[in-house]
Formats: sequence, structure tokens, C-alpha cells
Amino acid sequence: SPRVEYEMIKFRNLNMEGGGELPHVPRRYVLPPSQHPNPALDLTTTLPIIDLSPLHHASQRSLTLDKIQSNCKELGFFQVVNHGIPLSVMNDALDAATEFFNLPCEETMLLLSDNVHDPVRYGTSLNHASNKVHFRRDFIKHYSHPISNWIHLWPPNPPSYKDKMRKCAKAVQEVQKQLMKAILETLGLKFGTLHEEIEEGCQLMAINYYPECPEPDLTLGMPPHSDYGTLTILLQSVPGLQLRDNNKSWLSVPLVEGALIVQLGDQIEVMSNGQCKSVVHQVALSAENKRLSIGSLRSPPLNKKIGPVPELVDEEHPVSYKEFSFRDFLDFISSNNIADRRFIDSIK
Ligand code: SIN
Ligand code: FE2
Repeated sequence: SPRVEYEMIKFRNLNMEGGGELPHVPRRYVLPPSQHPNPALDLTTTLPIIDLSPLHHASQRSLTLDKIQSNCKELGFFQVVNHGIPLSVMNDALDAATEFFNLPCEETMLLLSDNVHDPVRYGTSLNHASNKVHFRRDFIKHYSHPISNWIHLWPPNPPSYKDKMRKCAKAVQEVQKQLMKAILETLGLKFGTLHEEIEEGCQLMAINYYPECPEPDLTLGMPPHSDYGTLTILLQSVPGLQLRDNNKSWLSVPLVEGALIVQLGDQIEVMSNGQCKSVVHQVALSAENKRLSIGSLRSPPLNKKIGPVPELVDEEHPVSYKEFSFRDFLDFISSNNIADRRFIDSIK
């Protein structure tokens, strides 16, 4: 819409003026005091890092599965190392993202869309049209499974973008599958149980750019939310991601070279009938650094209804969630300012 375009031009111009050098952040990014990021982060807690290489050794697999299980149950979050993706593939994808966000705005604007059903879309904030306060993020999102169905729609520039992102998307899919298999095993389910959901589902890549912010205590790059899908795999260029633990404290996710961040989404919480928990997270900004992140969100097909799997329901564990599909979620966020766990709480 013309209004969105006008806002976007203003937004991009602002970034290009050098957001970091402005003394104050523009008012439309300033959150009410109750939503300011809490400066008292508990930085002493060590967040879990799981080595995935023992998954391939029969004698060590169960110990790794135990770690995965306890983190899925309590935090819904962990980082993984020795996941098999070369550092060069991860860095190439981050480089392609940097170059994309450095393109002139006339070019990125060609992909602008605020329709959540568009398979490729460029945008800003979270729900640009309905956010009263804006979040300082630009993003490009595109579908990436199966890659051959969508790659022709991905950004044509920078010229290396498609190739670098394709390699990253494929490698991440492999890790996602390994982890899904492991999680199903911890739930006592066969991999085949969710074959259709896993093989035929959607993978959405969300590539995010957060400019420096002169007043990071007043604003956020992304508000608190949980992801809708099964598993999100994320790489970040610098720290900024924060998650909320069971005591409601916000914890900074440290940058671990070569690690991938794994976040559980609402769909896996629902399918596991609450045995796994989706994690609430947000993105804080920095006065010194821009930040990039590449998230791969995995979800069953758009219209497939997801509910607790029957094997995990019995008298002691009655059904705790209503069925929902990815489409229901998209409809929900199109008409609500999604924040926190409001979607998943609405289907309990
Ligand atoms: C997200 O929550 O999807 C973005 C996370 C990030 O930028 O680290
Ligand atoms: Fe997220």
C-alpha cells in the first residue's frame, strides 16, 4: 500500500542517515516503560550447548538424547555444535544477507509486501500495518522447501544471494530433520509418526537486519514472542537474542562461534501435548553494532491441522490444546498484534 511504501522509504532513509549517530531514536520506536527491555539480565547463567556428534554413535546417543529432552522440557531452547554445517556456509549466508540489506532501497522495495501469505516479502517492524510502536528491524522472508519450488522468486541481488542461501537452507534442513528425529525419540515416538508433517511441511527463512540504536533501553528489535512452528534454527552475527526462562528472567544468548541456536515453537508444544515447551524470546538492540540473524522456521503444511499426537494422550495426560494449522496462526497474527504467548494461550 502507498502508506507502507511511504513509511518504508522513511525507514530506510533513516537507517542510511546512520541511525547510530542520531542522538535519539525516533518516537515511533519508543515503547511504553513497562515494555522496556530489562537491563538486569542474568548473565551468569550458562545456557545449554549440546554437542550433536555423539548422536551418530550408538553407545553415546542416549546421553545426548537426555540433554535434548531436558532442554526441550524446561527451556525450549539450546545451542548445538558439531552439527555438520561448515562455518563457511554459515558465514557466506550472513555475507549474502549483509549485501542484500546494503542494496539501494529502490531495489529492496520491489519485494515489499505486508501480506503474510506472499512467499517472498520484504518488510519492516513485526506487523507494520498494525504495530502502534514499531520495532527496529528490516526483514526479507522467503519459503525454502522444497527449494526448487521457490528459489526463482528469491532476491536476484546480490548475484550470489540465491546460491549462498540455498546452501545454508539445505544444510539447516538436514540439521532440523536430525533434531526432529531425536526429539521424537525422546517422546517415545517413531520418526514415521509425523512423516507427512516433517517431509511435506514449509520452511520459511527469515533474514533479519537490526540497525544500531542510539537508545537501546527504550526500544526492541523484536518484541517477546514464541515461534509458531516446530523448530526454529537461527544464526546470529552478534549477540542480541534474549530468552525468558521459567523464572521470567531475560537471559542473553551468547554468541558461540559455529553454533546454531535451536528454539522450540508452538507446534511442537502442541504436538507433544505440553511435554516440550516453546520458548519466549525477544531481540534487544545495541548502540554500537548492527545485527543480522538468519532464522529457518519449520512448520507442517499450511492447512494441516496440528494437535496433540494420540500416543501422548491418556487419562493422566488429557488433551491440553485445541487443534490448529499454520494458516490459523497466520490469520491470527494478521488480525492481532501478536506478542508473547498469546497465540498458544488462545488454543489451550
Ligand atoms: C526471531 O525471533 O525470529 C528473530 C530472532 C533473532 O533475530 O535472533
Ligand atoms: Fe522468533
